[in-house]
Amino acid sequence: GQDDRIARIASAIRVIPNFPKPGILFQDITTLLLDTKAFRDTIDLFVERYKGKDISVVAGIEARGFIFGPPIALAIGAKFVPMRKPNKLPGEVISEEYSLEYGSDKMEMHVGAVQAGERALVIDDLIATGGTLCAAIRLLERVGVDVVECACVIELPELKGRDRLGEKPLFVLVNAP
Ligand code: PRP
Repeated sequence: GQDDRIARIASAIRVIPNFPKPGILFQDITTLLLDTKAFRDTIDLFVERYKGKDISVVAGIEARGFIFGPPIALAIGAKFVPMRKPNKLPGEVISEEYSLEYGSDKMEMHVGAVQAGERALVIDDLIATGGTLCAAIRLLERVGVDVVECACVIELPELKGRDRLGEKPLFVLVNAP
């Protein structure tokens, strides 16, 4: 059943203390990708949720949203649009700044990749403070896209990123401490 699949996914995620800096408990999804059943179940759970929901855009956030987004997009018949770090996309871009713990970062998307009125799913591996997903939502909404939901493999509930998304629905498979 569904709970068995979730349990397998949760146990395939490796937790590495003090990476990338002291005090951070890093949620490493590369071990999930090594477990062919858990990886397939991860994609299937998202596809089961979003198939038939008239979603035409899967927007994946660099870097690990690029791993989970494309197989979901193909399975639900949507296009995949990368949301990238600054100065990576070669065409004309629109960009959105967002704040980090120290300083700020920028997210960029190609102009013309999406059209006003399209329905989008935003996908990433993990939500922490929610700042990254908020920037992706703002970027898509600025060009008239309807962001139907955000989806992540892992949520860190203590950081309350879900609250930062406000009314925007968030679907996650696994909660991490
Ligand atoms: C991580 C994660 C999310 C983001 C979540 O990316 O993959 O994209 O942080 O954090 P937030 O909810 O507090 O905004 P990271 O900063 O490690 O960048 P990378 O994917 O390029 O390694």
